[in-house]
Amino acid sequence: MKLFRSRKQQSAVSVAKAAPGQPLIQMRDIVKIFKTDAGDFTALKGISIDFYESQFVSVIGKSGSGKSTLVNMITGIDRPTSGTVDIGGTMISSLTESDMARWRGINLGIVFQFYQLLPMLSLIENVKLPMQLAEQYTPAERTDRAMELLTLVGLQDYAFKMPANVSGGQQQSAAIARAIANDPPLIVADEPTGNLDSRSAAMVFALFDELVNQGKTIIMVTHDRHLAARARRTVRIHDGLVVDDGPSHEVIDLSDSGAPHQDLELEEVDPIEHATPETA
Ligand SMILES: Nc1ncnc2c1ncn2[C@@H]1O[C@H](COP(=O)(O)OP(=O)(O)OP(=O)(O)O)[C@@H](O)[C@H]1O
Ligand SMILES: [Mg+2]
Repeated sequence: MKLFRSRKQQSAVSVAKAAPGQPLIQMRDIVKIFKTDAGDFTALKGISIDFYESQFVSVIGKSGSGKSTLVNMITGIDRPTSGTVDIGGTMISSLTESDMARWRGINLGIVFQFYQLLPMLSLIENVKLPMQLAEQYTPAERTDRAMELLTLVGLQDYAFKMPANVSGGQQQSAAIARAIANDPPLIVADEPTGNLDSRSAAMVFALFDELVNQGKTIIMVTHDRHLAARARRTVRIHDGLVVDDGPSHEVIDLSDSGAPHQDLELEEVDPIEHATPETA
């Protein structure tokens, strides 16, 4: 199936592309300070990091270390207090909200832990939505493409179901189909398997692997050290700083691992702060 065919580009925003030999994403001196009732809290303390095209990068670190804050600087969900984010020659940290929305529409697929499908739309309508919003493809092409994408993620028989009527793993697969609807070069996923059983998690990971093979760049925050280790590169965040960055097998030591899909930071998580209703 030829999934990433050329499209009619109707928007003035261009598709992010790294200059030859250059990183796709260049983050420089990123500081993020949150204003809270208790005063200023510095969540990112001056991070400079590059990400290259077709790289599969996992981002790990304790709860509260700054992983989501960091990836939110790339998605434009949040902005740095100071520092710059350049993606394929666009300084996204200084785009206006509306330019950011248009840029994001064709350049970025975002996958969240809780899928965030629109509950009153069927799976196929959810997948079509980004194409409609970014005015990509013709209406007929959108339907064909949405069906192709759902087939890619194994959901061809569920296209007309509502999100509430399929499993968590299926909802996340649909969310991935939606994330790649506009064929974005970059996919950012914040704990995409955090709510899935290990079989569904492995399936989502396999999909990401396939997308990287097709040239996508993926940045994935995860607590699952086995999945993190299977990315090519791993970045470890601690207390708002990058403390480790390199080939995943060098950053993550699996030699002492017990159960598969063991939580990376299990032993470090505060049992009170993270109490579930059952344990509280
Ligand atoms: N909007 C906000 N206002 C105030 N503080 C915030 C805000 N967002 C995040 N923080 C704080 O910044 C720090 C980093 O948060 P972040 O969500 O990036 O952590 P994380 O590494 O993604 O954690 P987790 O693994 O639990 O998702 C935390 O101490 C958090 O409480
Ligand atoms: Mg987080």
